[in-house]
Amino acid sequence: MSSLPAPVLDRRLSVAPMLDWTDRHCRYFLRLLSRYTLLYTEMVTTGALIHGERERFLGFDPAEHPIALQLGGSDPQDMARCARMGADRGYDEININVGCPSDRVQNGRFGACLMAEPRLVADCVAAMKDAVAVPVTVKTRIGIDDRDSYGELLAFAGAVTDAGCDALVVHARKAWLAGLSPKENRDIPPLRYDVVEQLKRDLPNQTIAINGGIKTLDETKRFLETLDGVMIGREAYHNPWILAEADRLIFGDARRAPTRNEVLDAFLPYVERELARGTPLSAMSRHILGLFQGQPGARAWRRHLSEQAHRPGAGTEVLTAKLPPEPRP
Ligand SMILES: Cc1cc2nc3c(=O)[nH]c(=O)nc-3n(C[C@H](O)[C@H](O)[C@H](O)COP(=O)(O)O)c2cc1C
Repeated sequence: MSSLPAPVLDRRLSVAPMLDWTDRHCRYFLRLLSRYTLLYTEMVTTGALIHGERERFLGFDPAEHPIALQLGGSDPQDMARCARMGADRGYDEININVGCPSDRVQNGRFGACLMAEPRLVADCVAAMKDAVAVPVTVKTRIGIDDRDSYGELLAFAGAVTDAGCDALVVHARKAWLAGLSPKENRDIPPLRYDVVEQLKRDLPNQTIAINGGIKTLDETKRFLETLDGVMIGREAYHNPWILAEADRLIFGDARRAPTRNEVLDAFLPYVERELARGTPLSAMSRHILGLFQGQPGARAWRRHLSEQAHRPGAGTEVLTAKLPPEPRP
């Protein structure tokens, strides 16, 4: 797989940025299931990139392309500087987080609270577009708190579009900045797919991807009749196998999808390499627990990994012991 050239960026299907989940090990694994699905990093703050260990936050394997870096921040100059770091490091897209509602994020004046400051987000987009040649995109919600009218969403989307934003990813629910935890904010506010579809009708020239609660490629295909892209988060993490048919069904690549065992086999050399660099097995195995979800024997394999991967000296033999039988085609 890695000997093939990286496919060009195609927004029809992507896996969402997820803090603590879509780290480089997770992305390498997901890439083994689909060559084309666009992968997003976890959110990285401008502070972490400017003051922290840059390579720790930006490092990725070339096999992960196409890959988008998600930034958290709101100072246009800092955002431009970090966008340039990302583009220089080889990212295919730079995305701004205007969707995360956690307190920590609000104190830093970034994430979903920025929906109330369309001018500032537009200034960030413009500064970043000046700084890099790769696409600059925005991930947002349909509203925050009581600022959730369609008019406000359209004004926000219009402002960032006018500033040069190359695509919008819209999580189809509002966020309550006070009162709900980030987790509750991913479940409690109702999903309003119709609002995102209306936005596409009103901004027909903007590339718009929809996100929130989408679990199957069938749903993805239906959304692609009216929208430009679908972003899947939790389902792609808990049940990564849904990505295996994405190249054929969404991107039109006729090649046969790999089997679960082939995916695991292809992951092993990466795991060996990382173990040799001192990465603990559990940092990688935790992302693959859902590979056999729904298959007979999946639970025993999962339990084995959870129990054994933390042991000192644990190696790839933990991943291949207790493998569920390969299902018949
Ligand atoms: C564990 C976790 C971490 C997340 N971290 C981020 C993040 O760093 N940046 C972001 O924009 N959204 C983040 N999200 C939100 C997702 O990107 C996505 O918008 C949300 O989960 C809804 O999509 P889904 O229903 O397909 O999961 C996170 C979600 C989860 C579950």
